[in-house]
Amino acid sequence: MEALELKSKRRWLHERRNDPYFILSKKEGYRSRASFKLKQIIGKYRIIKPGDNVLDIGCAPGGWLQVASQHVGNSGMVLGVDLKPVEDLELENVKTCVLNVFDEDFTNKVMRISGGKFDVVLSDLSPNMSGIYEIDHARQIEMVERVISLLKDLLRKGGCLVIKIFEGQYARRVDRKVFRMFKFVKRVKPKASRKSSSEYYLVARFFKGS
Ligand SMILES: C[S@@+](CC[C@H](N)C(=O)[O-])C[C@H]1O[C@@H](n2cnc3c(N)ncnc32)[C@H](O)[C@@H]1O
Repeated sequence: MEALELKSKRRWLHERRNDPYFILSKKEGYRSRASFKLKQIIGKYRIIKPGDNVLDIGCAPGGWLQVASQHVGNSGMVLGVDLKPVEDLELENVKTCVLNVFDEDFTNKVMRISGGKFDVVLSDLSPNMSGIYEIDHARQIEMVERVISLLKDLLRKGGCLVIKIFEGQYARRVDRKVFRMFKFVKRVKPKASRKSSSEYYLVARFFKGS
């Protein structure tokens, strides 16, 4: 069993070392290869503008924070929250906070830092993987539904959302919810998202409000 685990870990390390987005993220100083997924989404859908106030839920180690920071510029602000602390990015327009998305007081805690609703909410939340797909899918969907339920208090009317979803039996249910809440919704799989991964993203614009 241990030999098998060691073998699959070695394979994973080998694949990671040869992954073009992993190599690019190291070269360009990004905290994660995931940065390129957000870059590709923004490149096509322009969901973050200079001056925007952005909330990034599940932000560690900080790749999306770096990308969002570049797009909001000096007049904008990005707040990242995660269960894990984010090592200081030394970016003036980025704040981070250790916070569980299921914290009962999530909205108040976030609003106390931001001082108001957000123009854009990003969610790249993933649970700790058990390796059993049905369990991981159900846990991830629970997070997605939690984020969706918070939007009416967090996102301004007309605002945008980018949210990761694990494909599976409950995915269509959350898709439908997001389609009802926004005027424009697109289901996307950025090039940087591994083909072998079951994840996709919903890019949503023009939030209808509560
Ligand atoms: C795929 S990573 C995000 C990567 C990030 N977008 C980047 O570019 O660096 C998913 C994150 O979700 C966080 N997470 C998982 N469960 C959470 C929860 N209940 N509350 C807040 N964050 C959570 C994990 O700690 C992890 O850092």
